[in-house]
Amino acid sequence: MYIVSTSRTGEFAKNMMTSSTMKGVGVERKVFPDGERYFRILEDLSGKEVAVVGNTNNDSEILELLFLLDAVREDNPSKLIAVIPYFGYARQHMIYKKGEAISAKVLISSISEYADEIVTVDIHDTSSYRYSKRKCRDFHASGSIADYFREKNIDLVMAPDDGAFFRAKEVADILGCKSGFMNKKRIDATTVEYNMDHIDASGMKVLLVDDIISTGGTILRSMEIIKNSGASAVFVSATHGLFINNVDRKIASECVELAVSDTIKSGYSKINVSRKLSYFITGD
Ligand code: R5P
Repeated sequence: MYIVSTSRTGEFAKNMMTSSTMKGVGVERKVFPDGERYFRILEDLSGKEVAVVGNTNNDSEILELLFLLDAVREDNPSKLIAVIPYFGYARQHMIYKKGEAISAKVLISSISEYADEIVTVDIHDTSSYRYSKRKCRDFHASGSIADYFREKNIDLVMAPDDGAFFRAKEVADILGCKSGFMNKKRIDATTVEYNMDHIDASGMKVLLVDDIISTGGTILRSMEIIKNSGASAVFVSATHGLFINNVDRKIASECVELAVSDTIKSGYSKINVSRKLSYFITGD
């Protein structure tokens, strides 16, 4: 299988190649004087299986991903897979207030115009898949997260809410420990309180797991509740570490260890999902 990558996701794609039979394809890139960009695939991909890799949290990268998909499609590959390590805009997968765009729909339907298959990594909500014209598959980082924390003797894996519980449970089941999630209690129309009154975590080593850390608000609030519950240690993990305003430093300073995956490169990308993802795609 051949692999074409956006400029920003190049390192992730390189890591996918080092541990698999995938081969990289060169891309000529230039910018015209008026700012328009140009992409050209430097290999004949007709009749070949090709994966185009790119994240969708950066608008310029989204455009590059679509252009690259088109360039490969024009070459008549036998199979074209769009691989989206971090599917940005996935939290905008439904209308919350009248007049909103369903941004995740726009992205996934556009990508599916070109790709035969779409592979995501812990997409925020797979309900976005209903907008794709092609088959979609989600790779879960839970195995890689569990591998990373295996030696830490975790007693309990917690999710910050019930929607994320399945992720915590997957990790806990692999580690052979307990799992749970924060309770949401609505106080009034604008106030929601979180607690873990239903779980006894006293003296436990707790691993808090989420799909995305963006501003860090969710994780910081959850960490505080876990600490107040009497846990002896709190570890934090997520698949995608966006870390807005360098919140990674604050989180890391308040827990025993912070570790996220390599879908978005940061100083805390200690968990390699690129290797397992390449097996997931090639079936090797
Ligand atoms: C929300 O449903 C997601 O799963 C994450 O919990 C959320 O996006 C994290 O955002 P933040 O770090 O800004 O609280």
